Amino acid sequence: MSWSAAAHGAKAGTTIMLSRTQVGIVGAGPAGLMLGQLLHLRGIDSVILENRSQEYVIERVRAGVLEQATVDLMREVGVGGRLAREGLRHDGVYLAFGGARHRIDMAELTGGRGITIYGQNEVVRDLIDARQASGRPLHFEVEDVSVHDFTSGTPTIRYRLNGVACELTCDVIAGCDGFHGITRPAIPADRLRIFERAYPFGWLGILAEAAPSSDELVYSLHERGFALFSMRSPQVTRLYLQCAPDEDIGAWSDDRIWSELDARLATNDGWRPNHGRIFQKGVTGMRSFVAEPMRCGRLFLAGDAAHIVPPTGAKGLNLAMADVYRLAVALEDFYRSGNEARLDAYSERALARTWRAQRFSWWMTSMLHRADGDNPFDFRRQRAELEYLVGSRAAMTSLAESYTGAAFDA
Ligand code: APR
Ligand code: PHB
Repeated sequence: MSWSAAAHGAKAGTTIMLSRTQVGIVGAGPAGLMLGQLLHLRGIDSVILENRSQEYVIERVRAGVLEQATVDLMREVGVGGRLAREGLRHDGVYLAFGGARHRIDMAELTGGRGITIYGQNEVVRDLIDARQASGRPLHFEVEDVSVHDFTSGTPTIRYRLNGVACELTCDVIAGCDGFHGITRPAIPADRLRIFERAYPFGWLGILAEAAPSSDELVYSLHERGFALFSMRSPQVTRLYLQCAPDEDIGAWSDDRIWSELDARLATNDGWRPNHGRIFQKGVTGMRSFVAEPMRCGRLFLAGDAAHIVPPTGAKGLNLAMADVYRLAVALEDFYRSGNEARLDAYSERALARTWRAQRFSWWMTSMLHRADGDNPFDFRRQRAELEYLVGSRAAMTSLAESYTGAAFDA
């Protein structure tokens, strides 16, 4: 449908394409795509609008630790096939300090829970395939997205697609557009409270063509700073180094990266990461951020649009999945019976999980990183905390419970 609509604030003579859906989803990251799939399986219409290209969204390198609940959700929504074949299931994790690695047997401590290594970009690829197979709309390279009238009246999303101005009328808008999106800033400032902490360091991350030299992740505290050994496949190692938040990646030759990784990760038993060609490098800052509530009228925020965690706890992707599962179940109730109780409870319940993840991510980060201004006392204290942790079944159980994550609830 289209009409010539000066009344809409558009320039006289401009044609606006009008359309309608039940749920308008802004953003095709893991949150928006999974929400679209959950709604599709419940017979609820949605339109997903993404401002980047399909290639960009798929190629973007992100984290890669999936909690059991995320793996189960992927399977339940019919996108678990490749994950089951290619995902690397880990029952434990290592903490390294003082020249030794200490294994935490998460599965044994939690009654069988573990994590699965599978790149976030692979999650996104699988969900895009499912969306495209469903035939429901997913538009990339959409421009000038803005959200309107979600506090009163009928929510709408305006955007341009292939140069054509469009207006999508929705029952509900899902803001799944990440930390730098437009939905959270569209909420009046007096309706949101922001809680935030920036950390005085970042992570320099690389992907290397090197067989992982450990079957499980290694989180290392070293006097020179934190380092993390991870992987993507039997052929690809993923490694991170604590650095300055604004670190100049140009100052890091491959040789410098490897020698710093070796210095921070190598243990006295001779273990160190295998080296190989570095084919991706990047620096990311670290912050903790929560916007409360995660709802304004008929606009619901999910994933990074509402909260950011530092990557040390590996919670970002999993929190996004937990949010959209909760939101999809709430929307199902709303459409089946008109019952809004779950929609009304969405923000409070999602925030409860978010704050548990914030607590855990902050704790892992502060235990394992060295901040400017830290003195030898702080380093000894961190070492003592790690010594206690790996010597106490109770403490290890606590870490394992949080790291593997609780079941998703509605
Ligand atoms: N219009 C449309 N889409 C937008 C806009 C906009 N104005 N702004 C941002 N987007 C898109 C981004 O390009 C991105 O594809 O929204 C998507 C948001 O995806 P993510 O940032 O991946 O956020 P989310 O889906 O919540 O997933 C959270 O991503 O950042 C990681 O570590 C984080 O693993 C976590 C996960
Ligand atoms: C990753 O493999 O990218 C990864 C692993 C663990 C983290 C963060 C990132 O805590």
